[in-house]
Amino acid sequence: MKTELQNIKVRAAEALMAAGTTAEAEQLRVAYLGKKGELTAILKQMGGLSAEERPVIGQLANDIRESLEELIQERKAVLGRAAMSARLEKEVLDVTMPGKKRTAGKRHPLNLVLDEVEEIFLGMGFEVAEGPEVELDYYVFEALNMPKTHPARDTQDTFYISEEVVLRTQTSSVQIRTMEKKKPPIRIISPGRVYRSDEVDATHSPLFHQIEGLVVDKGVTMADLKGTLATFTRMLYGPDARVRFRPHHFPYTEPSAEMDTMCYACQGEGCRLCKGEGWIELLGCGMVHPEVLRRCNIDPDVYSGFAFGIGLERIAMRRYGIDDLRLFFENDLRFLRQF
Ligand code: DAH
Repeated sequence: MKTELQNIKVRAAEALMAAGTTAEAEQLRVAYLGKKGELTAILKQMGGLSAEERPVIGQLANDIRESLEELIQERKAVLGRAAMSARLEKEVLDVTMPGKKRTAGKRHPLNLVLDEVEEIFLGMGFEVAEGPEVELDYYVFEALNMPKTHPARDTQDTFYISEEVVLRTQTSSVQIRTMEKKKPPIRIISPGRVYRSDEVDATHSPLFHQIEGLVVDKGVTMADLKGTLATFTRMLYGPDARVRFRPHHFPYTEPSAEMDTMCYACQGEGCRLCKGEGWIELLGCGMVHPEVLRRCNIDPDVYSGFAFGIGLERIAMRRYGIDDLRLFFENDLRFLRQF
């Protein structure tokens, strides 16, 4: 039995030296020292030994087990290190290579300008309201005093989805949705996309952006309208910005006006940019038509209001000196990276 034990030790040690991986070393541990291993099998025969032999063999078996365990541990460590350096050698890492540059995104110029506009109106106590782009004819036209036969509809080149559903041509629809939900005092702006089936050119796009404004309360007058919009313009373009109001017509306001700002290129002299006018149109506005209020269950004898609609692209073009509307929508990185 003693020789058998010594044999096991020698064979195990030889096999271990031949093992090429830590997994193989582990297999050997199981084969020799495991529950069903060779050494264990021998120990199970110890019952047949005499009382003198038993402790001697027992001691020997334990010594062998311990030294094999140690050997296996060492071999595993050696093999592990060898595997690691083999891997490191294979994975060439050139620490002198330049790093990969991360390209950070930028905000779109329309969003930059929208932030500015929102900031100004929030500062004046307005809230931001939203409405759907796919909208009922009722909110885009009908409730704004434009029944099916109204000629003003023709100017808006509407995309129809069905008889009663359209892509909104103006954010004015949000006025109605707001007044249906909220009672005065109301002070909201509502920025968003609008759609008109226009041919694309430097000043037309089938998709563009408006910012609608609505104020309804007791005793709101045209003076509030002018003061609010003139203040807005000065906050946007600086304290010297000049504005003028021209009479106009919108079916949902009475009276109605368009507001111009003095041409920033020629200071009112008249140039190519303002087509000789000296002024550039910035927005449409007016006092909310009593019929529009009435439709939303707001009593026009008690409340009055003003509304306005601003074209966002126009402001951004002036802010950044952009002369072609198409640049906003083409997403050419050379353009977008400039902001
Ligand atoms: N909806 C008009 C447009 O698309 C802009 C506008 C004019 C909005 C007058 C208003 C307003 O709220 O009162 O051109």
